[in-house]
Amino acid sequence: MVELKVNTKKYKLNNGVEIPAIGLGTWRSSPEDAYKATKLALENSYHHIDTASAYGNEEGVGKAIAESKIPREDIFVTTKLWNTDHDKVEEALDESLKKLKLDYVDLYLVHWPVNTDSEDDEPTKHEDYVETWKKLQKIYKEGKKVKAIGVSNFTEKKLQKLLDSEGVDVVPVINQIEAHPLLTQPQLVSYLKSKDIYITAYSPLGSDDSPLFKNETVIKIAEKNKVEPAQVLISWAVQRNSIVIPKSVHEERIKSNLETFTLSNEDFEALNEINEKDGPKRTNDPGFNNYND
Ligand SMILES: NC(=O)c1ccc[n+]([C@@H]2O[C@H](COP(=O)([O-])OP(=O)(O)OC[C@H]3O[C@@H](n4cnc5c(N)ncnc54)[C@H](OP(=O)(O)O)[C@@H]3O)[C@@H](O)[C@H]2O)c1
Repeated sequence: MVELKVNTKKYKLNNGVEIPAIGLGTWRSSPEDAYKATKLALENSYHHIDTASAYGNEEGVGKAIAESKIPREDIFVTTKLWNTDHDKVEEALDESLKKLKLDYVDLYLVHWPVNTDSEDDEPTKHEDYVETWKKLQKIYKEGKKVKAIGVSNFTEKKLQKLLDSEGVDVVPVINQIEAHPLLTQPQLVSYLKSKDIYITAYSPLGSDDSPLFKNETVIKIAEKNKVEPAQVLISWAVQRNSIVIPKSVHEERIKSNLETFTLSNEDFEALNEINEKDGPKRTNDPGFNNYND
């Protein structure tokens, strides 16, 4: 039988800031559920919480952090700039900080490379993410409200354009992207590695109603090792050197999702191959993003 251990691994990002490998995801958690889940997570050895202004639950997350006895510097908090806020970055960040009841966040991400005037708009000003990034850079350099800045849902082409742009001199520490055995994205992964940009794997379990929990390879590996299928997926992500942010609002799952084990080479490779056999399958395609460019 394999040994499951509470995962305490941390990675050093390209600006020297450390991030715990596993964090709690909170998308689709109501403010009350996010409060309860964050509280449970912090009571059960988590030190990393992922939220976003678009999730509408920063207040719940902030309340749980404020009530916890853990020193602020021992909790890594990520939040994200929403598509309609690219023209008012600092105001949006201030609003998030207020809701989170924090003086700073550890990581501020551009949620999508998409800039819209309103929720109903077509993505009108796709290219503006460079200007958005410069605003994040300025706030980062001021050294008060964010410890690190990064992006999310950026393709290689968009990142390269960003890095090649005049006036861009801070490399994102992270690109938060969908990643699991049905969407391994090998080319993007190796590009990001070459730029010293970490991956945070979102929807690592395949999100709600995940096809991965019905996947034969995942089930077989879980049964063989006497672990939960979710633990197979989270262990695989960490073994791939990704940061990983499984979401749950259930105590037992929150606890077990932090316990990982070392997959044998054979099992690790079998998981890598699912993508070629059955995938790729994106579970999160909001329709407003262009993944091909
Ligand atoms: N940057 C972005 O654009 C972006 C996009 C999507 C997600 N994210 C982030 O990534 C996080 C994770 O992604 P996600 O929420 O899409 O999906 P996920 O973490 O892959 O899966 C969550 C689903 O799996 C269930 N689950 C959790 N633990 C389980 C376990 N041990 N066994 C069986 N089922 C389990 C959850 O149900 P219960 O809650 O009922 O346990 C929920 O239905 C998000 O919450 C968010 O923080 C970011």
